[in-house]
Parts: sequence; C-alpha cells; structure tokens
Amino acid sequence: MRKGIIALLVVALLAPAVVFAGGSREAAPATVDTVEVLHWWTSGGEAAALNVLKNNLEAEGIEWIDSPIAGGGGTQAMTVLRSRATAGDPPAAVQMLGFDIKDWAEMGLLANLNELAEAENWDAVVPDALKEFSKYDGNWIAAPVNVHSTNWVWSNAALLDELGLDIPQTWDEYIAAMDAAQEAGYIGLAHGGQAWQDATVFDGVLLSTGGPEFYQRAMIDLDDAALRSDTMLKVFQRMDQLRGYLDPNFSGRDWNLASAMVIEGDALFQMMGDWAKGEFLNAGMEAGKDFYGIRTPGSQGSVTFNSDQFVMFEVAPQYRGAQSLMASAVMDPDFQIAFNTVKGSVPARTDVSDAQFESIGRQAMADLAEANRNGTLFGSMAHRHANPASVMEAMYDVITAHFNGQITSEAAVSAIADAVTQAR
Ligand code: BGC
Repeated sequence: MRKGIIALLVVALLAPAVVFAGGSREAAPATVDTVEVLHWWTSGGEAAALNVLKNNLEAEGIEWIDSPIAGGGGTQAMTVLRSRATAGDPPAAVQMLGFDIKDWAEMGLLANLNELAEAENWDAVVPDALKEFSKYDGNWIAAPVNVHSTNWVWSNAALLDELGLDIPQTWDEYIAAMDAAQEAGYIGLAHGGQAWQDATVFDGVLLSTGGPEFYQRAMIDLDDAALRSDTMLKVFQRMDQLRGYLDPNFSGRDWNLASAMVIEGDALFQMMGDWAKGEFLNAGMEAGKDFYGIRTPGSQGSVTFNSDQFVMFEVAPQYRGAQSLMASAVMDPDFQIAFNTVKGSVPARTDVSDAQFESIGRQAMADLAEANRNGTLFGSMAHRHANPASVMEAMYDVITAHFNGQITSEAAVSAIADAVTQAR
C-alpha cells in the first residue's frame, strides 16, 4: 500500500503534465502506460519468474511489451541492444549486468532514478557490492532485482543415491563421483558448449583451484603474474579433466537443456549459476530432497556473484511514469521474495526475510553474507561483474578455444594473459 502511494507520487513528480510555452498553455503528449522490456529470460524457470513482474506491473495498469532475446548470459541481448541504441530506438527498460551498466551510464544514455531511490530509501537496503553497479557518479541508474552466484554444482539426488555416492566436498571426491557415474553408463557432467557457459564453469574451477586470493589477483586485479602462474595452468588442466565427463553432443547446447539432463537423471552434475535451480524447481523437484545445490567443491566459503538489474533508457518523457513504476515494482520487498523464490536467486535487498526460501536459497543468502564479511565475495568474471566486456570477451575466447581442445593448457595460460593485456 505504502509502496503504491510512493510510486504514484514519483510518477506525479516525473510526468510533465502541462508545458507552458510563450504564455500559451499546451497539453503535453499523453502519458504512455506501456513499458518495453528487453531481457534474456526465456527458459521455463526464467519465464515463470518474469511473469511475476509482468503481472505486478499489469495490476498497476502498465502494459508490458515483451522483447525477449534468447541466449543465456545476455550475449545476444547485448548485441541487439547495441544496434537498437545505435539506431536511436532503445527499449524503455533493459535487463543488464555489472560492467555493462557502467558502460551505458558513461555514455549518458541511462535515466537518473535518484528521486525514486530517495523516496524509497534504496541507499539503506541495497548492499554496497550491488551499489557499485546500480550507481554511477553518485546517481542511481539501475534497480537491482536479485543476486545470483556462479560457483554451484547441481546434482540429481536419486542418481547419487543409486550410485551409492555422498555429496562431494573436495575436487577429488567430485572427480571420483563423475568417474562412478560414467562407469555406470551415465553422463558425469551436463554442459552446453557456449562461450558464456564454459566461462561459468571456469569461474568455479578457478575459485576452487586457486582460492579467494587467487580469484582476486587473476580475475579482478588482472595481475599478469597470476594470469601466467602455475595455478592458472592447473585451472586449465582441471578444465581439460572436466571435458572428459561430457557427452559428445555438448556443443552449442542451451544451459537449460543441460539442466534437464540432470533433472531427468541422465547426467549426475551441472556446474551453473543458481538460475539452474529455477529449472529444477519449475520441474516440481524439491531442493535438498530431489536435487542438491553445493558450492563447487573446494570453493566453499567464497562466492562469485552477479546481479540482474534493470536500467531505464532515456526515452521520450511520456514514458517516464511507466519506467518509474517499473523500477519501483522491481524494488518492492514482497516482489523480491515472490520473484527470487522462483528465479533461483536471492533478493537484492538486505531487509528481506529468508523465511519463504527453500533450503538452498537460505544457504545462498547466508553464504553471501558470510563471504561479504570475510572479503571472499567477488564479481563473477563470466557474468560481467569482474571486468568490462572487452576483457571478459578476451577471456571467453581463450577459455572456449581451450575447452574445445583447440589449444593446450600451457598455450591457454599465455594466451589468456596476452589477451587480457591487449584488451585493457
Ligand atoms: C543472468 C541470469 C540468467 C542467466 C541465464 C545470467 O547472466 O544473470 O538471470 O538466468 O544468465 O540466462
């Protein structure tokens, strides 16, 4: 209720109802009650979560114009956005990640959300790690909807049981479990060979192999010595090792189809961000009973996160009211619970209870808080939270070429260091 009143107030502040020009009174163009939303939430779990937002906005009288761009991790969505913006036709609202937000803000194309943020006191409830991307030059330019993390392994509980396996805690136990699955005729690791998925696996492997300090040095600080180190060699060797557990058809497969292989019990594990949990839940499986989500073995205590945020592009003034309502709807605490319990992520606000989340969601919230306290919370390289897109894409190229067996682990080490130097 309070929320609705604040949103209306902000709309009233933003909507220029009447324009005075040269003493004559002209009506401004009528307010438009639609919002076009560009996003890449097209899997079953993602679409179910998106519907929560769509329905909330429609209940406020805002018509949702859907612009879905399939392609996990947002690679294709960002390509479409660039061409729309270049043509002078950006969508009103866009799902965006990390450093991309900073880039668009720097170009001066994003609407300033300060008035709404102040009225709703976002400063007090959004954690600093997210504000790093929601604010630019001290101004609010994005509304964070969630926090995901990438260092997870998803597994089918019945299959673990059938194979007589415990949940692996160490890298060696993890490998031994996949060996057992393969020997019994199952696929050890479900994976989709797309650059962003390879990079998502790499996030977890690097964190597990080198630990938090190494993640900081190699992925965040881009320290050349770390990038060329023996630890980095070991990371690539472990990526090689993982390739041995994939099925022959992994190339180009969408991430949600890889999740389905674990859901169906054809594969034992998937290494993927917790949007995969949205697929398990959407398939009617119960967390902690039918499936497990564990931190990539060896990376316990650290978290690589990414946060989906909505930015509003500077479009014609008559759209501002709808944009403001959308940003307000995204930040609503009840919405953040309803959305994130379906999406597999956790709320972007610190004042939201974990009571309605299943066990893995509650664990994720606790992990994030603990990692934040201990300095072991890092932006995910694979999901645009560690570096600008140029550096991330340079890393993607090397990781994917190596994962597809085109270059050796030794060659990958120098290639990644060289590529980063060039991209910076
Ligand atoms: C986004 C998630 C999305 C996933 C797969 C990530 O980059 O943050 O919201 O579910 O990509 O598309």
